[in-house]
Order: sequence, then structure tokens, then C-alpha cells
Amino acid sequence: MIPGSRAGAPRRRATLSKAWLRVAALFAWAFFSPAGLSGTAFAAGLSAFAPGAAWPADDGSPVDSHGGNILRDAQSGTYYWYGEHYGTPRGIACYSSGDLYNWKFEGVVFPRGSIGVLERPKVIYNAATRKYAMWFHYDSTGYKLAQMGVALSDSAKGPFVLQGHFRPNGHQSRDLGMFADDDGKAYLLYAADSVNVTIRMVELSADYAGVTANDVDLKAHCEGPALMKRDGIYYLITSQCTGWDPNRATYYTAANAQGPYTGRGDPCVGDTAHTTFDSQSCYIFKIPGYADGYMFMGDRWNGSGSANSRYVFLPISVPAANTLQIRWYASWDLKTFGPSAAHAPLPPRAGNAGLPVLMLRGGDAMLEYGGHGWRPDGALVR
Ligand code: DGJ
Repeated sequence: MIPGSRAGAPRRRATLSKAWLRVAALFAWAFFSPAGLSGTAFAAGLSAFAPGAAWPADDGSPVDSHGGNILRDAQSGTYYWYGEHYGTPRGIACYSSGDLYNWKFEGVVFPRGSIGVLERPKVIYNAATRKYAMWFHYDSTGYKLAQMGVALSDSAKGPFVLQGHFRPNGHQSRDLGMFADDDGKAYLLYAADSVNVTIRMVELSADYAGVTANDVDLKAHCEGPALMKRDGIYYLITSQCTGWDPNRATYYTAANAQGPYTGRGDPCVGDTAHTTFDSQSCYIFKIPGYADGYMFMGDRWNGSGSANSRYVFLPISVPAANTLQIRWYASWDLKTFGPSAAHAPLPPRAGNAGLPVLMLRGGDAMLEYGGHGWRPDGALVR
């Protein structure tokens, strides 16, 4: 007998049955969900981003989720958007979407309670622990505590439970970003020290619930850190330090996640006022399924933040290595981005094209039916 073969067989059966469960779920999604074949998850019917415009959620109220981030849940294909919620109760909101345009309010997943200041939350998923880790700026009303808070949840929709709050390795910490690298390491980027003189980047512990001692000064100035990686190069966008007022963005590039970074200037092309198109950087969301689907997320704070603060989401382009550009579009959609392998044209197939067929494209499950293909998040392939 081959050593280990007895242990291997049951594992294979478990994997197979999981795969079939996924197949069944995909067919159910396609035929019974109103989102399925229309590609739209919710009824609002938006089909484009309109930066700076009012953005109604499913309940008709404006999306009230500021300074946060978006993640895509790999199991369900659902996008979740977390951010500061100025409605009642104050805290951190969660919205869900199948298409990034139409959002459903899922509630406040972490109430502010007695915390003086609770700002700029970011959530990432830890596949090893199967927990969602939320980090945020935790402070007293005078901003003197200058700490990071961390809360965990078993579900993307919360509730998140506070694990602790502290200064990473003793450093003052305020605005923050998060970045999960493709080697499994995750990092917290934070506006550090007195007062926000630089951006530091600390590696998280394996469970994403704490920080390691690997904590470096990126010598980048000085708030709103947002990091992305493309073709092995790291691109960091930061804002200046003007409270909630819009200001000029700067971008930096590096060959390694923790630098050294080289300043490259303002990424915003045609932004004659040099105010990041009237916003502050917040996050860069890499949209799965699109080869160059990097979306800049910025906040237009409307004073010092309110439920009606607006969002400036714009496509990022990288025309050459170490060059990052953000252009203004009054309206744009995901077709702006090139298709990835998961979106490559489907090959012609023999047999009855009217019968649905399930296939894997670029690692994503895809349903082909009637000459068209759909991913589980509702995106049309052709
Ligand atoms: C400075 C930031 O850049 C603002 O957007 C806001 O987060 C304030 N800090 C509040 O602390």
C-alpha cells in the first residue's frame, strides 16, 4: 500500500462532494436568483459609477460607508463594502452587492458604542482561520490615543467583536490602509507618529489579529494610504495632511512591499486644482476577473464627514512600469478594464448551445448558456 493512501481517499471524496455542491449552487444561482442571468444583484438598476454623485442604496438612502474598503467574498462571489456610518447607530456599516454598482444595506456590523473616534475601517479575510479581520483607527475624541483597533467576525456580515486596541510597536497611528500580498502576508499601513509625519507599514500576525515586529517607515507623506501591486511592482497612493479637506495625492513605487519607495508625483491626470478630483485617497480595490481592474476609492468628506459625504471611485491605469494614472470620468463602468483569463472569449462548443454548461475559466466557475457566459457575480463574459 502507498503510505498515506488510506488517509488520502476520504479527503478526495470530501473535495469531490464540495465541488458538486458548488455546481449545484451555481445552477441554483443562475436559474432561481433574480440577479443570475441579468447580471444585476439588486433592484436599483444602476449600471455605472458616477463619481461624486449621490449613490442610493437598496433602501433609497445614500450609501453611508466612508473611509473604508471593498472585498469580494470568494465563496459567494458577493462584494462587501465596509465604512464609517454616520447614521444611527454610529459605527461601521456593511453593504453587499453582486455587481459593485447596486448596494444593499446589511446594517452596522460594529457599533461605535463608547469609542470616541472610530474611523477608516478596512476588512480582509483570513482563509486559514476563516475569519474576517477588521482594523480601524481607534481614538479618543481629542485624537491623542492614536491607536489601531482590531475586531474579528466569522461572517462577512458581522457581528465583529473587538479583540484589542494599541499603538503598533509603540507608534502613534491614525489613517490606515490594508494590503494582502499574494504570498499570504497581510499588512497594515498607517499614518504614524507626531503628527502623521509618515506612513509606516507593519506585517500582521498569521491570524491577522495582531501585528509583528516587522514594522518599517515607508518615508511617504502622510495620510490616506492605499496600496496595490501590479506585475511585481507595488504602487502606494497617499494624501496630504489637511484634515477632511481634499488635497493633492502622491504616488510612490517599490520593488518590495515594504520598500524602499520612490516618490513619483501626482497620479491624477487633468486634475488642474490638484485636489485628487476633490477627494482623499482611501483604498485601491483590485476587482477580481479583470486583468487591470484597479479601482481608486476616494472620499469627498463634505465638511468633516457626514452621511451624505460622497465617493470618488475611478479606474487606475498603469501605462508603463512605475507609472500610475487616474483620470476623471463623470460616468464609467467595468468594461473600462481589459478582460482577464476568466473573461476571455469562450471557445465555440459542439452540441446543443441551448443547454447550460458549467466550466472553469481562469480558476473561476462560469456558466455558459445560449452562447453567453456568466460568472457567479453576474458579470457577462460575452
Ligand atoms: C485625516 C484624514 O485624512 C481624514 O480623512 C480623516 O480621516 C481625519 N484624519 C480624521 O481623523
